[in-house]
Amino acid sequence: MIFKLHIWRQKNANLPGKMVTYTVKEVSDDMSFLEMLDVLNEELVTNGEESVEFDNDCREGICGMCSMVINGIPHGPEHATAACQLHMRHFKDGDSISIEPFRAKAFPIIKDLVVDRSAFDRIIAAGGYISINVGSAPEANSILVAKDHADKSMDAASCIGCGACVAACPNASASLFVAAKIAQFGLLPHGHPERKRRALRMVSQMDKEGFGDCSNHAECEAVCPKQISIANIAYMRREYAKASFTAGWLDPNY
Ligand code: SF4
Ligand code: FES
Repeated sequence: MIFKLHIWRQKNANLPGKMVTYTVKEVSDDMSFLEMLDVLNEELVTNGEESVEFDNDCREGICGMCSMVINGIPHGPEHATAACQLHMRHFKDGDSISIEPFRAKAFPIIKDLVVDRSAFDRIIAAGGYISINVGSAPEANSILVAKDHADKSMDAASCIGCGACVAACPNASASLFVAAKIAQFGLLPHGHPERKRRALRMVSQMDKEGFGDCSNHAECEAVCPKQISIANIAYMRREYAKASFTAGWLDPNY
């Protein structure tokens, strides 16, 4: 297969970027999207040109590193699929494909397709520790967890922190990510002691990082490779409202 690629090239955060067109040949339909970019980069390096920078780690849809917008869609056109698990058989031979970085003020571009998503790390850190000792495996029935809560918590915990929800949202909101993290702990008894503080701090940090608010477009859910439901955002809003009324909201150390 052969493809025409229109790729965003930008040397660093301070210089302007632009789309550059490349032709990549001898692509197998079994290759992943990232392997196709590897073929391009090998050719660029062989010709003495700078390779296209892109983030990746696991290439198994686990780490959330492969942040890129393919043909206008974060992670590309396949439903519930991270860019690293997108295969070239989903494109037609001869297709033109545009590849851009995630665009959001809170995710500044580092180089080419690589963006700085450390804002997500700071939101997680703001959530703080869980004080419950979970050292050794407890007796299974010693802490009862409702099946519905266990399922919802596990679903929320499958968020890989990729940031596609932010890139897809017209407000560049991180609500789906933050809601998933608040729900994953808040729904289990182990996460209850700090649940109010966690909701207040994580939402506050999300605002400080410059993410927008949620206005129910649901674009985030549509592109999420882990199919995180926007029902989590409703849960986050309820948690935040309850915590605002009952926790020490005016105490900055809370
Ligand atoms: S909610 Fe989905 S799109 Fe957003 S960071 Fe988590 S896995 Fe990625
Ligand atoms: S490289 Fe890890 S999720 Fe894509």
